[in-house]
Parts: sequence; C-alpha cells; structure tokens
Amino acid sequence: MAANTRRPLLRHLLGTALWCAAAASGAAPDSPPADARYRDASAAVEARVEDLLKRMTLAEKIGQMTQGERAAVSSEAAARGLLGSVLSGGGSAPKPNRLEAWAAMIDGYQTAAAATRLGIPVLYGIDAVHGHQSVAGATLFPHLLGLAATRDDALLRRVGEVTARELAATGIYWNFSPMVSVTQDLRWGRTYESFGEDPAVVTALGRAYVQGLMQPLGAGAPRVLPTAKHFIGDGATAWASARQNIMNTDYLLDQGDTRGDTAALLAQHLPPYQALVEAGVMSVMASFSTWNGTKMHGQRELLTGVLKERLGFQGFVISDWDAIQQLPGSLRQQVVAAVNAGVDMAMVPTASREFMQALTEAVVQNEVPPTRIDDAVRRILRAKFQMGLFEQSRALPSLRAAFGSAAHRAVARDAVARSVTLLKNEAGTLPIAAGARVFVAGEWADDLGAQSGGWTLEWQGVRGNPGLTGTTLLEGFRQQGGAAQITYDRRGRHSGRADVGVVVVGEPPYAEGVGDRQTARLAVSPEDLATVRALRERVGKLVLVVQAGRPLLLGEALAQADAVVMAYLPGSEGAGVADVLWGLQPFRGRLPIGWPRDAASYTRADAPAAVRCASLQWALGFGLDAQGKGLGPVACPQ
Ligand code: BGC
Ligand code: BGC
Repeated sequence: MAANTRRPLLRHLLGTALWCAAAASGAAPDSPPADARYRDASAAVEARVEDLLKRMTLAEKIGQMTQGERAAVSSEAAARGLLGSVLSGGGSAPKPNRLEAWAAMIDGYQTAAAATRLGIPVLYGIDAVHGHQSVAGATLFPHLLGLAATRDDALLRRVGEVTARELAATGIYWNFSPMVSVTQDLRWGRTYESFGEDPAVVTALGRAYVQGLMQPLGAGAPRVLPTAKHFIGDGATAWASARQNIMNTDYLLDQGDTRGDTAALLAQHLPPYQALVEAGVMSVMASFSTWNGTKMHGQRELLTGVLKERLGFQGFVISDWDAIQQLPGSLRQQVVAAVNAGVDMAMVPTASREFMQALTEAVVQNEVPPTRIDDAVRRILRAKFQMGLFEQSRALPSLRAAFGSAAHRAVARDAVARSVTLLKNEAGTLPIAAGARVFVAGEWADDLGAQSGGWTLEWQGVRGNPGLTGTTLLEGFRQQGGAAQITYDRRGRHSGRADVGVVVVGEPPYAEGVGDRQTARLAVSPEDLATVRALRERVGKLVLVVQAGRPLLLGEALAQADAVVMAYLPGSEGAGVADVLWGLQPFRGRLPIGWPRDAASYTRADAPAAVRCASLQWALGFGLDAQGKGLGPVACPQ
C-alpha cells in the first residue's frame, strides 16, 4: 500500500529530475560531427529525419514539440529550453514594428538555435491571414471571404505568393493560414476569415492559395509552410454552445460544439483538408471547438484516425492557443490526452516549461509511449527538412525592397476589384459616370483600420490609419472620380445636391468569438442608417457600399439605395473598390455566402433548402454585372 502510493511520487520526482538534468546545458551528449547525415542537404529527407532522431535526447525531442510566444520566450530562453518553435500571437510585434526589427528578432532566434547541440532551426509561426498584416507597411489583401467572391484560382495563387514573399522578408516561413472552415452561420466572428459556406469553393480556393504560399522563393530559400485550420467542424458550431468569455464578451459560436454524425461532418468539412494534404500542406491546426461535446484536441479518431491514417497526412498537428489546457483534468492529463490523440506540437504561449515538464513526466510514467513522441518529432522534423529550413532559416534581404511595394499593392488592388460584388443596380446607377458630382458619406469610408478588419496590427484590429499604409475607399473615390467632384461628410450632412451619393456602411473590426453576434446585431447600425437617410435627400442616385466581414441586415437601407455593392474587408488597397464603381474594372464578384433578408427569418446555411432559400435576400453565388445580368449560378431558385 505504502509502496503503491509512494511510487507515483517517486516517478514524478524522477521525471522532474530527468527533465531538469536534460534541459540544463552540459548534461547532453556531445555535438554530432559536422558531416552528420542530417546536415547533408543532398540526403533524402527521410534519411535525414532518422539520422537526427536517433541522436536526440528525450528533452530535445520534447523541445521540438513545444511552441512558446515571443513575448514570453526570448531567443536565449528558447535555445535553453530547446524549443522547436516560437510564434507571434495576434499583434505580438517587436518594437519598433518595422520590417528590419522583425527580421533581426527572428534571426536572433535562429542564431541561438544554431548554437545548440544539434543546431535544429526554430520554426517561427504567425497568422498572416490577409497578407503579413502584423507588420507595419505590409501589403494587406482582402480577408479570405472577399477573396472567395472572386472564385479566381489564379488570383489566389498570386495572393499566396506575394504573402510568402513578404513573410520571407521578415524571416517567417510558417503561416497559420488558410482557415478552411466551411462557415454555416455568419453570426460567427470568424466568418470573414473563411472562404464561405460552400465546401467546393473553400476547397478550390484553399488549394490555389496554398500553392501560391508554397511557391519557391528563389535558389536556396526555404519554402513557406501553410497551415490548414481548424480541424475540424469549427464552421458549424451550434448557437450559444460556446463557453468562453474573452474581453468581457461571451462567445456564442466560436470554440463551441458541432453536432451530428461523423459521416455528415466529414462529407461537409473534410474535402478542403484532403485537398490541402494532397497539395503538400504539412501543418494542420486542431480546433478549439468540440465535436458532440468532446474537445477536438482529444479526438483521437479524427486527428489520428481520419487525418493521419485515412488522409495519409505526413505533417504535424499543432494545437491551438492554450487549447490543450481546455481538456479535462490536470495539466498532465490534458497533455497526455492531446498528445495521444495526435497533437504533435503544443501551442503553449506562456506555458512552455510546464508543458515540457508534464510531457516528460508522462513519458517516464508510460502514459505517452516513446513511439508517439518519435512519431510527433519525425513529423515536425520532416516539415522542417522539406521546407529547406536547415539550409537557410534567415530573413531574405533580397525580398526587402519588394515588401509593401507598388507591385505587391497592385496585386492587392486587383484582388479588391475582382471581389467587389454588385447586388442591386437600378436604372444603370453604376458605374458612376466620369465627371459626375458625388457626395460621399459614412464613417467607414475613410478608415484603413476598419477596412482591414481583425488581426491587422492587433489581434482585434485597429481603427483609423495608425501605422497602416494604403488607400481608403474615400481616397480611391477621389483618385477615380476626380478630387474636385468628390465631397465627403462622415454623417452625410452635405449642403446642395449631387448626382450620386455613395454611403459606406460597415462594422468595427473584431476577431474570433469577440465578433460573434446575435442576429439582430447584424443590422446596419442606427448611426449608419441616419447617414443613409441624410444623404438620400441630397442626391439623385444613392449607392450603398457595405464594407464588412459578412453580410449585414440592410433593412430600410436596401429600399433607400438605387445600387448596393458588397466590398467585404478589402485591406490596404481600398482604391480597388473605386476602380469598379467608376467602371475601370468590371463587376466580377459573386457571394461566397447567402445574404439574409432579416433577423426574424434568419437561418443557417445547413437549414433545409426551401427554408433557407426563403430566408435569403441573395443566395450563394449571386452577383450582377453592370447590365444587371447574373454572373453565375445561384444556389436558390430566383
Ligand atoms: C486562433 C488561431 C490562431 C492562434 C495563434 C488562436 O486563438 O484560434 O486561429 O492561429 O490563435 O494566433
Ligand atoms: C492572441 C491571439 C490569440 C488569442 C487567443 C490573443 O491574446 O494575441 O493570437 O489568438 O489571444 O485567445
């Protein structure tokens, strides 16, 4: 009895001692020779993986499985702790937030890692979800929902490639993007981060985008590693099933519960993962959400059974931000459950030491088999070798000049123009005639932060134009319409009359569950509606531009407007909207998600087709050309 109760304690002490000893410098065996096989760039990836793996201590292996956050783990601490990965959370930037400072910071992690016994490069990750939007001066593309409106594979490849180049200029080769969630409920605060409600669109555009991200960046340069996230079913959580409260906001859908039978889940949500795995994506992020009440991070059947075994995924599963700690039990039980379920690398922003210690103890206690550790480390090393990170892990100075350049911005402006979706156009209101006198209104018309949405510079985004380079919608209107012809008033209190009024309605920026909204709160705000009314009185034709992360309930604004345009969250190149409104570019966008008519009849995308169609103002696929002709098939009878 006494021996039995003492044994776990002894094992615990042994585990701790092992971890401390191994983590302390000097305790590890000698450095491998300079000609070790794993260092030979000409050797096959699998041979290099095996050669390196057999040289590693348990502490070195567990280190590879650990990711800390830059603010919590300095380059010295990362090297001392043998960390395999470091991330920037949303808005986590070096000071000053400048390209050079980012490159110096990340090179610092690599220099420290190169000096460790095995010299394994650090994999530095960031959310570059619409361009490299954490870095001041970057080119910001429309968020993915806007890009989805283009249904243009070639464009998505270009966007991916430019994003990869801007990442590499800072020395970052791992992107926590794309989010390939199939969004069923636009009340979700992550709707704008997705390619919309149609699995086929999500799959095709997700594939094209990762192909762009993985484009070779030049001789000897590493290849960017995209991430398919969040595995699986995060776009279909049930209303009010979420339990999280962050920033005083009760989450409603984000991190909630998806329900049903597995065959239906996989039919709807697996296709994008399958396509991305086939395209060579080597990292998948597990979802915060639960599946029939059980946290995805503990779902062995799905993470290992479906993703790794059925799809043959050879890369690694990264956990989401502190999501392992949402599993039941003690930290060690949480770690054991996640790693045994198939999580290979732990995103433990401020808890890397605790994670490594818990996992070490778990291995010593036989709660996690050594074969599982080896499998996880193989997957991580395989990705690092395949990327070419052992040969070159630093920022590419040759790409600095192109960062935020006119050439990159031209791609973004073109993307904006292709995304703009025409929903209503009475009596040829659009395009606006050259030389027309135009009144512009709306607080969202002249705000780079708002038009860039969440994740831009800060996790929750920013308002106004601090530290952002680009063109607001208003600046674009002035370029195309002629500055002398354009008069702006935030609230639409113009004097005199104009031929055309353009009012921009919208949403403040948000990210994740902080943007979850009750249906009624999706309505155009009373302030925006007042602006619409004020402008209506002073113009011949009224154009309503919606600049938002998702369709808004238009209510009275729809009847007031002669033309309605969806601009999504365009990013830094707002001028792309003007290019279309003034007819320099055609209308090409089509809705990637159904547009609800009103709060009372609101339904999710997975409601029975007849009910759903009856609830929509405009269905998936809707979008007009300037002559009023539909641009493509629409999901509901018209
Ligand atoms: C989000 C992920 C993101 C991660 C790192 C989490 O809160 O759910 O999508 O990649 O943070 O920023
Ligand atoms: C981080 C984000 C992360 C979020 C998760 C924020 O503090 O900056 O990257 O996604 O927390 O809750």
